[in-house]
Amino acid sequence: MKNLKYYLERAQKEGWAIGQFNFSDFNQIKAIVSVADKMKSPVILGTSEGESKFFGLTEAIVLRDSLRKETGLPIFLNLDHGKSFEYLKQAIDAGYDMVHFDGSKLPLEENIKITKQVKKYAGRQVLVEGELGIIATDASKIYHEQVEIREENLTVPKEAKEYAKKTGVDLLAVSIGNLHGMPDLGQEPRLRLDRLQEIKKEVGNLPMVLHGGSGTDQADVKKAIELGIVKININTELRLAFAKGLREALKNSEEIVPYKFLPQAQEAVEKVVGEKIKLFDSLNKI
Ligand code: G3H
Ligand code: ZN
Repeated sequence: MKNLKYYLERAQKEGWAIGQFNFSDFNQIKAIVSVADKMKSPVILGTSEGESKFFGLTEAIVLRDSLRKETGLPIFLNLDHGKSFEYLKQAIDAGYDMVHFDGSKLPLEENIKITKQVKKYAGRQVLVEGELGIIATDASKIYHEQVEIREENLTVPKEAKEYAKKTGVDLLAVSIGNLHGMPDLGQEPRLRLDRLQEIKKEVGNLPMVLHGGSGTDQADVKKAIELGIVKININTELRLAFAKGLREALKNSEEIVPYKFLPQAQEAVEKVVGEKIKLFDSLNKI
């Protein structure tokens, strides 16, 4: 199996992006992997600190390995939005393929210092995603805090260059008007593609990551990929689909057999994953 670096470089050269789909339950993983398998798409499974504490770091590794073996698919695991060196160390030790250090709310020097520490510990095999600029968050449904999209929170291109050079990160998450969650579960404000272009000028070929992929305008997503985004994170739309599917399956039903009511939730997740893989154009890349 080719490694994640290979797929990121290839995506950049060919102008497509790899989806990172977050999970905290095996039924979500099954749905994500079955669609990726059908569509012949490489895929990244993501767990935040909270998701991985619920699911188990080791359990995630065991399942990744087993699904890789079963499908032959390039399935990678990312520890998403790790807030401390200590936790990312645990994910690296467990066998994650990549880790994301989110030091975006720290002063730049502190962010650089810890990212360097993570990068050093990760070595050559495990990729490190850094983050610069504060990504907005919509607290109306899923996330716990509200952070508005503000000019002063967008990634500063010159700082991105400095951060990339000093830390040696493999990927950079940017704040370009993207938003975690979905306001009123609808369409989000448009991306600041002008800012993305300016960042790209400063960081060159460094692969960039778009967080908050749920509810993002599709034309903006396409354009962002053209401008150097190679990985896109999706969580809220998957959670909504799963919960809605489950509620519908159990509504007015006395069903107690999990394998009879869970497929509806899985199918709802599959639909979202399929749409995203098409949008990111990562199909038929295996
Ligand atoms: O890191 C995870 C993602 O950025 C998810 O964002 O919940 O808006 O899809 P989302
Ligand atoms: Zn994120």
